[in-house]
Amino acid sequence: MLIQDQSDVTGAVLKAVGQAPDSRHGEILSALVRHLHAFVREVSVSEEELEFAFGFLNRIGQASNDRHNEAALFSDALGVSTLVCLLNNGAGGATETAAALLGPFWRLNAPELESGASLLRSPTPGTPLLMRGLVRDHAGNPIPGARVDVWQASPAGLYENQDEQQADMNLRGVFTADADGRFHFTSVRPAGYPVPMGGPTGAMLRAQRRQPLRPAHLHFLVYREGYKTLVTQVFPGDDAHLEDDPVFGVTPALIGSYQTENEGNADERCVLDYEFVMQPGEARLPVPPIK
Ligand code: BEZ
Ligand code: FE
Repeated sequence: MLIQDQSDVTGAVLKAVGQAPDSRHGEILSALVRHLHAFVREVSVSEEELEFAFGFLNRIGQASNDRHNEAALFSDALGVSTLVCLLNNGAGGATETAAALLGPFWRLNAPELESGASLLRSPTPGTPLLMRGLVRDHAGNPIPGARVDVWQASPAGLYENQDEQQADMNLRGVFTADADGRFHFTSVRPAGYPVPMGGPTGAMLRAQRRQPLRPAHLHFLVYREGYKTLVTQVFPGDDAHLEDDPVFGVTPALIGSYQTENEGNADERCVLDYEFVMQPGEARLPVPPIK
């Protein structure tokens, strides 16, 4: 059809995208076009603003590489990753879930470690941490053989892929839950850190006067055939940024008890106990956001 004026555009595009033989493709793209066109109308996007949006999207791609995923970061900073997580876990909000966003720093093939091993592969100053986990189902039955992939930032606030000072795969490891569903490891207490601010997402956060610090956390990805893969993060309850996390990742279920023992003494350490509750479902590994 010929387009007579602006009021013809949306209908014409919807007709075109609705031809997709893949019905899910048609459903998603039709909804995207409806919402995108409504958004353009609502805020009266100018020609200059559309050019800015092209540049912004291009900069997201240009900022991304094997060690940095700006698209994931942008989705995280707009709350889309957390929204998708909470819609797809805990029955869309009907029940509590221990799931959280994956974030842009999970790597495949972290070293397989024996329970009790350390996550440190290069000197990493910080308060010693002992983490003890139990993987169980809703009824309290242990899930032996669950694989628990752990990753964290150093107390300096950097993941090893961001930091030349750290050995490859420092502060990363994969454990296997024992016959009682338990595993434990040692590390250093994680610290809060700023999300990467050097790209277009950082520019957006600055424009919105948003603070960039994530609360301290450990990441976990728990995998076992027959259960929905549990991707989560565990935060200390006393962190100053639980309520203004720039990626909206903190829910009450994710607050763990990081207990300090022997405070102020040479043998001070932090102990975290946490139970990972898995739901029956599909075991699936996410696409790693970085290599
Ligand atoms: C993270 O927890 O590693 C993370 C999540 C979202 C944005 C940046 C970092
Ligand atoms: Fe993190």
